[in-house]
Amino acid sequence: MARAKTVYRCSDCGADAPKWMGWCTVCEASGTLVEEQVRPTDLGPGLGAGWGGVGGTSPPSVPIPIAEAVGDTTEPVPTGDVELDRVLGGGFVPGSVTVLGGEPGVGKSTLLLQALADQATRGRTCLYVTAEESARQVALRAERLGLGPPSLWLVAETSLPQVLHHIEALRPEVVVVDSIQAVFDPEMSSAPGSVGQVRGCAHRLVAAAKSRGVAVVLVGHVTKDGGLAGPRVLEHLVDTVLAFEGERHHALRLLRALKHRFGSTHELGLYEMGERGLVGVPDPSALFLADRQAGVAGSVVAPMLDGQRPLLVEVQALVAPSPAPAPRRTAQGIDGGRLAQVLAVLERHAKLALGRCEVHVAVAGGVRVPEPGGDLAVALAVASSALGRPLAADLVACGEVGLGGELRQVHRTERRLAEAARLGFTRAVVPRSAPSPPAGMRVARSPSIGDALRVTRVIPAAPSAVARRGDDERCLIPEATAHGNR
Ligand code: TYD
Ligand code: MG
Repeated sequence: MARAKTVYRCSDCGADAPKWMGWCTVCEASGTLVEEQVRPTDLGPGLGAGWGGVGGTSPPSVPIPIAEAVGDTTEPVPTGDVELDRVLGGGFVPGSVTVLGGEPGVGKSTLLLQALADQATRGRTCLYVTAEESARQVALRAERLGLGPPSLWLVAETSLPQVLHHIEALRPEVVVVDSIQAVFDPEMSSAPGSVGQVRGCAHRLVAAAKSRGVAVVLVGHVTKDGGLAGPRVLEHLVDTVLAFEGERHHALRLLRALKHRFGSTHELGLYEMGERGLVGVPDPSALFLADRQAGVAGSVVAPMLDGQRPLLVEVQALVAPSPAPAPRRTAQGIDGGRLAQVLAVLERHAKLALGRCEVHVAVAGGVRVPEPGGDLAVALAVASSALGRPLAADLVACGEVGLGGELRQVHRTERRLAEAARLGFTRAVVPRSAPSPPAGMRVARSPSIGDALRVTRVIPAAPSAVARRGDDERCLIPEATAHGNR
């Protein structure tokens, strides 16, 4: 048997160091190096090149003309879950390996159990390997969700050779291993759950997926900063990395592809976690706006874009006087840095004194809007709350606020406005260069934040602001009706 060697492995990124140090020289995390004993075989075929050619036993490869390789792809097989298929670009590809990452309790096991049951109902043989929960726990969950197709197989197993044996014997088309951190290979010297184990096990599962043409889905826990726990190297081994996210106190769950060898990483899947498990959300905008109280100061609707998917969200602001020397600012669903920037622009370019006020901004419904397209809505919401002047109920705001107080167009404004129009919004404040609005929607093209505040009547408009140019409605909201009961 090959001699074991001591390495110091980063529990965060998986990089090896020859001696112990206080930090990892690759990812610069501190205190993450852990001593591990590794043998050449622990690295898996192809990874042991520096150990004397471990990967030399595979058959020789044959180069072919690139044009002939084009037809050599396998089509994805639909899972039956519309949201999952949207993110995957059609479904799981046979022979592919996918990692589903997410914090504990977000619903990874539920999502995959439902997805497997959907496929098993269509007659595909599916295997669910539970390495964390007991078979009974998973079965009870399946029963509660009303899932029990005969071709969905379940096994509670943590030993990798056993898992591979079951794949060999059952010949399933889709396999879920829940989770990759909980399976271990007794042939490897490193401890269960260590980076070496996770990497080694994943490598053998990737090899099994490719040789058998089975789609393998690995559940992976994530660390508090959102990376896959331990081995970031896992992300390089697999074809697809999915992230499942959601706020603990909200039912909304978001599914995204962070890496996808077979398609786009711009799709967004949305679910609601309820009594009956996860249910897809076909119309997220309607969901986010369902409980909106229109005509309240501090509330502005923004058409956002998450990947390719347009989402209408309600941005809420509350500005209240505070005796504190440094009044609080909180940002929920938007970036705190961006909020600080928007507040500074409001102070400087709209003469809004916020220094003695606490400012809270939240995106309703537990959604996160990390893009600058929400800046204008944030600015209008803050000013509206500070001045106690509500905006029109059927108005949306869309644009980035520059440091000079100018408004800038954000990508796919047309698509965003179309989504707003679909949900019955008839007015929009947009930057000057924005494209023509969809039929039935009136726009005010504002060059600056100050102008946007005037055309929306958050601050009284000068008489000159009511002239009309092209499709630009300067008199977006007549003063007489601006703050009445809409
Ligand atoms: P789970 O799929 O076990 O999460 P993970 O595998 O990511 O750790 O889901 C756990 C949570 O989901 C748990 O708090 C209960 C909740 N849940 C529901 O609200 N409804 C349901 O139908 C199911 C199955 C779970
Ligand atoms: Mg789980």
